[in-house]
Amino acid sequence: MAMKVLSVASEAVPLVKTGGLADVAGALPGALAAQGVAVTTFIPGYPSVLAALGKKAKAIHNWDVLLGEKARLLAGKIGDHPLLVLDAPGLFAREGGPYADASGRDWDDNWRRFAAFARAAADIAGGAVKGRSFDLVHVHDWQAGLVPAYLRLAPLEGGRAVPSVITIHNMAFQGYYPGEVFPKLGLPASAWTVDGVESYGGVGFLKAGMQLADAITTVSPTYAGEIRSLEFGMGLEGLVLARSNRVHGILNGIDTAEWNPTHDPHLAAHYTASKLAARSKNKRAVEQAFGLDRDDGPLFIVVSRLTWQKGMDVLVEVLDHLVGIGGRLALLGAGDSEIEQRFLAAAARHKGRIGVKLGYDEAASHRLQGGGDAILIPSRFEPCGLTQLYGLAYACVPVVSRTGGLADTVIDANPAALAAGVATGIQINAVNASALAMGVSRAVALYHRPKEWKRLQTNGMKADFSWSASGAAYAALYRQLLEEQG
Ligand code: ADP
Ligand code: GLC
Repeated sequence: MAMKVLSVASEAVPLVKTGGLADVAGALPGALAAQGVAVTTFIPGYPSVLAALGKKAKAIHNWDVLLGEKARLLAGKIGDHPLLVLDAPGLFAREGGPYADASGRDWDDNWRRFAAFARAAADIAGGAVKGRSFDLVHVHDWQAGLVPAYLRLAPLEGGRAVPSVITIHNMAFQGYYPGEVFPKLGLPASAWTVDGVESYGGVGFLKAGMQLADAITTVSPTYAGEIRSLEFGMGLEGLVLARSNRVHGILNGIDTAEWNPTHDPHLAAHYTASKLAARSKNKRAVEQAFGLDRDDGPLFIVVSRLTWQKGMDVLVEVLDHLVGIGGRLALLGAGDSEIEQRFLAAAARHKGRIGVKLGYDEAASHRLQGGGDAILIPSRFEPCGLTQLYGLAYACVPVVSRTGGLADTVIDANPAALAAGVATGIQINAVNASALAMGVSRAVALYHRPKEWKRLQTNGMKADFSWSASGAAYAALYRQLLEEQG
């Protein structure tokens, strides 16, 4: 019989997405089905999720009090795969994003919203819901970080003990709350230690998961090494080191059905590695949509959260240089308002050369990858990064910093790699204006050597970043944990 896994995540494509976590949580069931693992996804019942479930949802369980709230469990489908949704209106029936209100301010009670979510997940995994049993729980990020804590320290009475895996998608977001919330979590007093959920005098949701899960994974091999250091560990490097024999780096894949230039419905023209010329129609569409001059020079794109992590403040400083050497930029993103304003100012200064769209637009993100020549990703840290993988698949050459998953997935066009014909993009050595300016200059120079540029594009398109290898790696890890459990 297939192994049954409960995947616990606070967002999943196509129901709700703020970043790469949603892409990964949405793709895992398919990736794992191919490995003989049956995944059920469990997510919170935000309004968008309940709307997508529609009338077909079936209520299969009730909680009279789940951290003080009435809640019920709805069963439905996400694509072909089973979905469970926590319908708790007191916690999730709110307009705005999954974690913040419409103005971008985090909800004050996020600790309670995601503790309740985790408590419910632990109950489901323990067997609280008739007819639903699981062999293993796979939780994602701080929002599900308390699941391993509940499973170990406050399991469902008479419930089944199942192993757990936590995946860290971003160490910078830890779900850290003041110690006063601890007594309200429904954990035993003994959990208030450094071996439990305590972290620097507060409660650390991610820390708790990392402490108490049977295995820790993160989304690229390089990031798995980086988080052992002060620079990237964000205060949890000691815990990573202490549990280093339990830490695995498994690279994200991409959903090649969603992200495929041969049939992407968002594109003006479809293309393959041997028919790259058709891309020019997509380039024209991007120029038009972003108010850019029409020309055959290099068109850079950005699809990103506009934040310090993504190095977007550094990119702002390099824009005059980029335009000065004949480049143009089409940028789609949202984030820090100061960075947003600086991009708008640059667009006003460089009319026809820089086009900026603030906001979130899934269709536009596909069109940019399909029409841009190169995608800029100068992140200060990047656990995996998906936009460089979409860039590779779409022949939009990635220009990236040498960190995390970016380092693992892009082969720099240095003379040796060019000579060997294996390069797929450009890496910059450091995240500062001069290093990024040099990366942009290298990209422009290569762009004007069409044969070499085309080779970068076709190498990228031929590289395999589908989920098959990573799906197999997760399945192998699950099997190992089940064997250990006996
Ligand atoms: P992160 O999760 O850190 O933001 P990733 O590269 O892993 O970074 O994933 C980002 C995901 O969000 C990608 O699917 C990317 O295309 C998408 N994305 C980011 N910003 C936007 C935007 N403004 N509009 C549409 N999609 C976006
Ligand atoms: C996080 C990381 C990003 C990663 C994504 C999916 O948002 O910032 O690098 O690709 O999670 O794992």
